[in-house]
Amino acid sequence: MIVIAKSSNNEFYELISEEEEIKLDKQYQKEILEKEKKFLEELKTANEVFDKRTLMNLFRLLVGKHITEFVGIVNSGKEAVVFKARKGKFYRAVKVYRVATCDFKTMSKYIQGDPRFHLRKSSRRQIIHAWVEKEFRNLKRASEIINAPKARLRRENILVMDFVGHRGVPAPKLKDVQNLDWEKCFKTIKESMKKLYEEGELIHGDLSEYNILIKDNEPIFIDFSQSVITQHPLSQPLLIRDCINVCNFFKRKKVNCNYKNLYTYITGKDINPIDEAMIKQL
Ligand SMILES: Nc1ncnc2c1ncn2[C@@H]1O[C@H](COP(=O)(O)OP(=O)(O)OP(=O)(O)O)[C@@H](O)[C@H]1O
Ligand SMILES: [Mg+2]
Repeated sequence: MIVIAKSSNNEFYELISEEEEIKLDKQYQKEILEKEKKFLEELKTANEVFDKRTLMNLFRLLVGKHITEFVGIVNSGKEAVVFKARKGKFYRAVKVYRVATCDFKTMSKYIQGDPRFHLRKSSRRQIIHAWVEKEFRNLKRASEIINAPKARLRRENILVMDFVGHRGVPAPKLKDVQNLDWEKCFKTIKESMKKLYEEGELIHGDLSEYNILIKDNEPIFIDFSQSVITQHPLSQPLLIRDCINVCNFFKRKKVNCNYKNLYTYITGKDINPIDEAMIKQL
């Protein structure tokens, strides 16, 4: 391993292997070094701390040309940071999970019921990686069916997807939008939930005015981290909770809606009271 960058707090990072370095020409190396430096400075200004392995993977996105440049931070939450990045003239959102603060116990509960994953004894890091892989696959499946950002790449705890916004300005969350045809928006969300369930056999699992962005007056679902497939033991309680959240928001906008009707519209069946009682345990 060789040292090719120095962070602003004077700590050295071993970023790429010698083998990788040989492949890079001098000019390109210089470019990457500058971008890394800028990126590290921005992290320091924003007081963001990542483990070394995550930083290395972020830099590798630059080296591998999956990302041309990290532009800034869109959102910094407890579990993940979302960066705005560019790939040529296109913008990308890069969601990075914080290995140190993720609630991996809840994560493993959701992964365990998913037949796509087989986790036996796993480390904290392995669980987080599986969690991000799950989000990546969910997003890929969802974006083929409904309005959701296209998933581009997954590397360990990092997920790269299309950026939802205009010229690098992120689209607002549904909760922050002032003027909208609320009836029409509710209808579109209702159809998307049904399509996701029927065609994608997927339930969002954390749907609310916080995880829906509005672009060109149209709703776009984001954050498929808690999504589960319909066979998952928690799928029905999660869907009921999604219906409750969506209807609570639209009721405040004077849209005539009811979570029980919404659930029946999506699934073709009535709510099972046992599933509804399970919401408390989610
Ligand atoms: N593809 C995207 N394009 C534009 N903005 C995005 C995109 N993905 C996420 N964001 C922004 O980042 C925020 C957080 O993303 P997300 O909901 O996926 O993560 P989170 O872990 O739920 O974060 P938090 O707990 O802070 O809500 C979103 O509310 C949205 O504003
Ligand atoms: Mg969210």
